[in-house]
Amino acid sequence: MPAMSDNALVRYLPDLKVWVLTTERTSYAIGLNDRNELQSLYWGEKLESDRDFFPAHSRPEHASFDSSETMTNEEYPGWGGRYYNEPSLKVTLADGDRDLVLKYASHEIRGDTLVIRLKDIEYDLFVNLAYKVFPKEDIIRKQAEVENRTPQVVTLESAQSGVWYVPTGEGYRLTYLTGRWAGETQLIREPINPGMKVLESRRGNTSHALNPWFAIDEKGEADEEHGRVWFGALGWSGNWKLVVEDTPAAHQVRVTGGYNNFDFSWPLKPGESLNTPPYYGGFSGHGFGEASRLMHRFERDEILPDHAQPHLRPVLYNSWEATEFNVNEEGQKALAEKAARIGVELFVMDDGWFGRRNSDRAGLGDWFVNTQKFPNGLHPLISYVNSLGMKFGLWFEPEMVNPDSDLYRRHPDWAMNFPGRPRSEARNQLVLNMARDDVKEYIFGVLDKMLSENNIQYIKWDMNRHFGEPGWPEVPVAEQKEIWVKYTRNVYEIIDRLRAKHPSLEIESCSGGGGRVDLGILERVNEVWTSDNTEAFDRLRIQEGFSFAYTPKIMSAWVTDVPNLNGRSTPLKFRFLVAMQGALGIGANLNHWSPEDYALATQMVSTYKNIRETVQQGNLYRLFSPREGNQTANEYVSSDGKQAALFAFLHSQQFLWPAPTIYLRGLDESALYRIKTIDNKLADRQEVVSGSSLMHHGLNLNLRGDYDSTLIVLEKTE
Ligand code: GLA
Repeated sequence: MPAMSDNALVRYLPDLKVWVLTTERTSYAIGLNDRNELQSLYWGEKLESDRDFFPAHSRPEHASFDSSETMTNEEYPGWGGRYYNEPSLKVTLADGDRDLVLKYASHEIRGDTLVIRLKDIEYDLFVNLAYKVFPKEDIIRKQAEVENRTPQVVTLESAQSGVWYVPTGEGYRLTYLTGRWAGETQLIREPINPGMKVLESRRGNTSHALNPWFAIDEKGEADEEHGRVWFGALGWSGNWKLVVEDTPAAHQVRVTGGYNNFDFSWPLKPGESLNTPPYYGGFSGHGFGEASRLMHRFERDEILPDHAQPHLRPVLYNSWEATEFNVNEEGQKALAEKAARIGVELFVMDDGWFGRRNSDRAGLGDWFVNTQKFPNGLHPLISYVNSLGMKFGLWFEPEMVNPDSDLYRRHPDWAMNFPGRPRSEARNQLVLNMARDDVKEYIFGVLDKMLSENNIQYIKWDMNRHFGEPGWPEVPVAEQKEIWVKYTRNVYEIIDRLRAKHPSLEIESCSGGGGRVDLGILERVNEVWTSDNTEAFDRLRIQEGFSFAYTPKIMSAWVTDVPNLNGRSTPLKFRFLVAMQGALGIGANLNHWSPEDYALATQMVSTYKNIRETVQQGNLYRLFSPREGNQTANEYVSSDGKQAALFAFLHSQQFLWPAPTIYLRGLDESALYRIKTIDNKLADRQEVVSGSSLMHHGLNLNLRGDYDSTLIVLEKTE
């Protein structure tokens, strides 16, 4: 009788030639068929016993039109033989051979990690597939390392991290995130039909247009609480690609992910290897809500730089919307004094403090304090900010240069370009070729100097345009397309070195809003700028989409002035409550606020501090979606279950219909909760209510008019 499963995260079942990866609630199985090919066998609910697994099936020997399609679960398919689906690896050898057939060579298990080594049937070209298991979050990480041990150059034309398969069948639904500048992370849902759907970036960074995250459910039947949901994400901030494929003959849905092979070519010299981006996959048997909570926990516990010792995000003030480029010592000090009064903990000066930067037309690249605006450098401002009890942060856009800058006049060749061709500007700027090591060292040097000479504890790292004319004329032609990968690697390296040298430094990733949010940059930054659109009603949708893939802890959300850029005005309370659902920031012009605004803001900031651990480190339940009705409601439950915060928003009053009943989730049915409101919007004035009543009887709120909102805090009684 086969052995019952042990608790190992990775185990090999020799009789079946199957490897099993186990998380707390899921299993993932890979097997070898009788031709020594690696197949994906299972991904879903945890299978408790070894006898629940089956060996890999054989590939049919004889060719027919559909033969490659009848075995479509290759774990890491090379492009060769009779292979017609999206390959994981495609190569050309120096002698012209383009046939690649990968078979099992060996494997090694080290605790939570499995490495399976594949080899081409003839050449000494190896692929090391590394799997790491994250048991608590039901997530597995795949990564592939391609190793050239042949005596010739092997040019990689597509290098993917791997493939995730869902069980064969029809009727799956894809959920993904799309958007644009000022309208990021919009949730899209569509049926998966035969053919390929490509989600990708060709822009050099993660992009606003599509985010490297997906979720798949069966027949579109999963909701927030129910149904099987498979999800995945890439950890890469450069050109990436996810190919969602439904193979017509077998109805096998698979998602291949890794480096975008568009304009990709990587000549691997003898002895060299290339690592692909981490590709994460997870499974929830309880709908999208749980899938998101698993991702949130995973990011907080495993990805973010403070994952070993998490700390809470401070309340931030950023002067951008108040001053734009018009910054100076006196003006910033005045804002800082007002920000400190309402409880701000981190004061960030945005664009405009350096070079001859009075508009977006000049100065980028000249990371030296503008002495007209700051005659005595930044020290007087920073020590004033510190004396008010706040940390100081500063904006940089290190990867960019304005043609009207000293840096560009000195080094025009540092901007990426094809010699003799136009250099297309966007926001009057060009992209520095960060793939070049001399450019990387220069940028590291100027940032390091600023951080060493000033008490800067936070950097907002911006990137306000995408690549154009991505030429790299200084290296041999065959290596020029490496720019896409090497650029991102060098940006990562600069950030990693800055953090190592300045251990208390925190970083915000911004790219004209939320253009650089992915699991690669999140290993290096503490917060991300969600969107340049800070209009609270639009934000409800942007933030909802964001929360499908990313934890609210890192979701920078500001309260700004109205009317916002879309012309809408919402009450200050509504703006605060929207922003309090993430990492709260304030970006309004505090010089224009009334005493009433100050009073409300002070109260809201203090309320936020009381619930921020619940918001940032707790479990999110999306109760009413802003996409679906007239009310949005989100509930956050602290990780110890002692506190819950319910945010509710009425979009617009329709006739005299009352807002629908809100059923809370994630509470202890038998416990009693003390209810605190900020504004008495509860229809029933009860003070202590059972978890059971809150979840099954629900709460009714007196929300009325347009953009009404409230916050209810529940404290579990002892
Ligand atoms: C980008 C950012 C903004 C601000 C400006 C400064 O647009 O997204 O928040 O920093 O740049 O120029």
